Amino acid sequence: MVKLRNLLQLIPRRYSYYPYFICFLCSLIFLVYHYDHIEKLEVEKSIIDSSNDFDLYDDDDMLFNCPSEIQFNIKNRQHLTIIIAPKLVPFLWKNFRALLCTGVDVYIMFNEVFNISSSSRGDNFPACIKRSTRSYTHRFLFVTNEKLEKYGVSYMTKYPTIKYSSLDRAIVWLYHRKSLTTVWLMNYGVQWYHINNITYLFDIYTSDTTDILCEGIVETNSTRWKQWPQNQSDIFPKSYWIGTFNPLVRYSRRLLFHHYKYMQLIHKNRLHYEIDTNFRFHEFIMGTIANIEQLSIAVFNQKIDFLHLSLGDYNTTFILFLLRQGKHIIHPIRYDSILTKYSINHIVKLINNNN
Ligand SMILES: *[C@@H]1O[C@H](CO)[C@@H](O)[C@H](O)[C@H]1NC(C)=O
Ligand SMILES: *[C@@H]1O[C@H](CO)[C@@H](O)[C@H](O)[C@H]1NC(C)=O
Ligand SMILES: *[C@@H]1O[C@H](CO)[C@@H](O)[C@H](O)[C@H]1NC(C)=O
Ligand SMILES: *[C@@H]1O[C@H](CO)[C@@H](O)[C@H](O)[C@H]1NC(C)=O
Ligand SMILES: *[C@@H]1O[C@H](CO)[C@@H](O)[C@H](O)[C@H]1NC(C)=O
Repeated sequence: MVKLRNLLQLIPRRYSYYPYFICFLCSLIFLVYHYDHIEKLEVEKSIIDSSNDFDLYDDDDMLFNCPSEIQFNIKNRQHLTIIIAPKLVPFLWKNFRALLCTGVDVYIMFNEVFNISSSSRGDNFPACIKRSTRSYTHRFLFVTNEKLEKYGVSYMTKYPTIKYSSLDRAIVWLYHRKSLTTVWLMNYGVQWYHINNITYLFDIYTSDTTDILCEGIVETNSTRWKQWPQNQSDIFPKSYWIGTFNPLVRYSRRLLFHHYKYMQLIHKNRLHYEIDTNFRFHEFIMGTIANIEQLSIAVFNQKIDFLHLSLGDYNTTFILFLLRQGKHIIHPIRYDSILTKYSINHIVKLINNNN
């Protein structure tokens, strides 16, 4: 083996400082590179293992049939959307399929692993053992409790209070999507008249840079909102508290990055007060972090009068009432409703039949 010293002696004298210079340069590059990465998130490949193909295929590698009233448009791919759901049920499957068939980059985060070999998959496909790499089922996501613990993310859902819910899982998954600029988070209770109404909404905000786009803002001084934390926290001072109503919400990468940093702060026990779970509630913490970090928060534009996002669970009579008023995106409807059961022509007939 040639010794380094011998090697150095081989270099002509007037160039002898070159190796040192190169070493210095390399260290500098390493430092700069390393520093650059400290600022970024630690990335685990295991969390993002979904395929990159545009996957209108099923587990048997067969093209799947999109409903005829839905038009595919590759431009919709820019809209990253995550549906938050406990598990796959048939009406949710239909809404997922509609989004995927328009070209939207849609995923569902479940609160359990999607089992392709189960006989009751929820998507009308038979149980499978092998899974095509381009199957849409790669868009059915799950992040383990261990990962949530690692990132210190929990209790973002309040009704019912669940320590690790699909929402927590979605947030940790999103930490790892380094390329996103914005993401739409949609509760599985969001339904629509026609899928075009959703892409129309998404398109309106394509070049808007607001960090939280939501349905409603609860001012810091509001006493009507019952979701404020009951305790104090040194990192979330009361004067910054803001609530947002988020059944359908768009977050920016900047916001998610700040959320990550705050969860690290809590996680590493650098708090003066023990934090109570209320602080973690997504409709509290996202707005409050945005407010502290001077990020932007906005409600949907007044011109967008076709949304009806509220609480409850709407029956057919009320859905028809809303449709007649031109409300074309509705929350919450958490069952196989007239919107998921019938074709658009059938729904139009129901709307026009005023009995
Ligand atoms: C998936 O479902 C099949 C059939 O119901 C069952 O045998 C299997 O244990 C399930 N796998 C997991 C990981 O739950
Ligand atoms: C919703 O989509 C349907 C079908 O494309 C369309 O007729 C209707 O005008 C849309 N609603 C809004 C508010 O854009
Ligand atoms: C809260 O603050 C806003 C703006 O400062 C003010 O307009 C509103 O009246 C206040 N509401 C209450 C309940 O104090
Ligand atoms: C607030 O936090 C402190 C410290 O953990 C705890 O002793 C107290 O019970 C909490 N108060 C409420 C109202 O949760
Ligand atoms: C449907 O919901 C509306 C509004 O919540 C309610 O007034 C009505 O009684 C309900 N209709 C039926 C048939 O349950």
